[in-house]
Amino acid sequence: MSADRPLYFDWAATAPLRDEARAAWLAASEPEFANASSLHQWGRRARAELQRARRGFAAALGCQRDDLFFTGNGSEANLLGLAGAVQALLPHRRHVLLSAVEHPSVVAPLERLAKAGAIELERVPVDRRGRVDPESLEARCRPTTGLVALQAANHEIGTVQPVAAVAARLRPRGVLLHCDATQALGKIPCTLPALDCDLLVVSPHKFGGPRGVGVLARRAGVALSTPLSPERQEQGLRGGTEDVATIVAAAAALHATLRDQDEVALRLTALARRFAAQLTTALPDVTLYSDVEYALPGLVNFALPDLRGDWLVTELDRRGVAVSHGAACASLAAVPSPVLLAIGALELAANAIRVSMGRTTTSDDVDLLVARVVAAVVQLRHR
Ligand SMILES: Cc1ncc(COP(=O)(O)O)c(C=O)c1O
Repeated sequence: MSADRPLYFDWAATAPLRDEARAAWLAASEPEFANASSLHQWGRRARAELQRARRGFAAALGCQRDDLFFTGNGSEANLLGLAGAVQALLPHRRHVLLSAVEHPSVVAPLERLAKAGAIELERVPVDRRGRVDPESLEARCRPTTGLVALQAANHEIGTVQPVAAVAARLRPRGVLLHCDATQALGKIPCTLPALDCDLLVVSPHKFGGPRGVGVLARRAGVALSTPLSPERQEQGLRGGTEDVATIVAAAAALHATLRDQDEVALRLTALARRFAAQLTTALPDVTLYSDVEYALPGLVNFALPDLRGDWLVTELDRRGVAVSHGAACASLAAVPSPVLLAIGALELAANAIRVSMGRTTTSDDVDLLVARVVAAVVQLRHR
């Protein structure tokens, strides 16, 4: 392999399509082009494929087939889960908690409901690693608390949350737990029973599926009231003709991902350690915001005292390296990352870089990455 080959270290933004997903899409797109709601045989075939994919996701995430909803992406699945559950809980359970490090697609729908006066929203602080403390979260619960939003793992620093420990405290109080596992699936176990949550969101493009589909799974019996106009598709939660081939491809990516998950996680943990150790040796003034013990396998967030994150991303891009400044979706906006502010990283919040690895990342890639980061830093410091 050539030493100047491109290096993709932005898997947390989106992952390359898996071969299994591409093959499944090609196999399904021609015969299953029909509308899955049509009564004729073309429609019935498309519906059968759609339901097969739904059964696959439901079995893997630990719910019934009718409790599994396909959406357009993870952001929309968060919106439908949160707004749908809140609407069903009102007017009595109008107090909602969310961790201070949730993804914008969790924060935004809840803030909108709070601004409209529908709910009372309260943020739960995190420690310096970005973790909530289950006991202090429980202490914030009131008789009117209906829902808690807690992600499985963070999109910027990778911190894994104690979701099941929080769930154990919420269940006796009858408080629902919404868990955004968009970053976590493929790295750690993410089922409704393992996380013990009531609503679970995953996004196939993060684990080698196609873009254009998201998934919301719910525990049986959790009431969801659609925030949109009631529709025929997805048990009335969301309308629109389903993209059957894309959903089938997502199910193929899920199957392949879960087959390799443990092996990939072990390898990525070792690679993240290797990267962190080499970077700290080469650049002793680096600050690491991801603690390998608590972070998702393969995700390292770091900052250098004198270099803005966007400068370093641009310089690395010139050298054929893809990394992110903060989370990819927030990185075009020149606002300090709320995640880094929440962990108290005030001074260096503008300098943070997220390196994220995936199933094809090798130790050679990591060694080359370190060399290119060091060269980019030297270049920027001597401008
Ligand atoms: C934690 C988290 N939640 C939700 C999303 C949104 O997913 P999607 O891009 O599928 O809308 C992302 C995407 O980066 C994410 O990292």
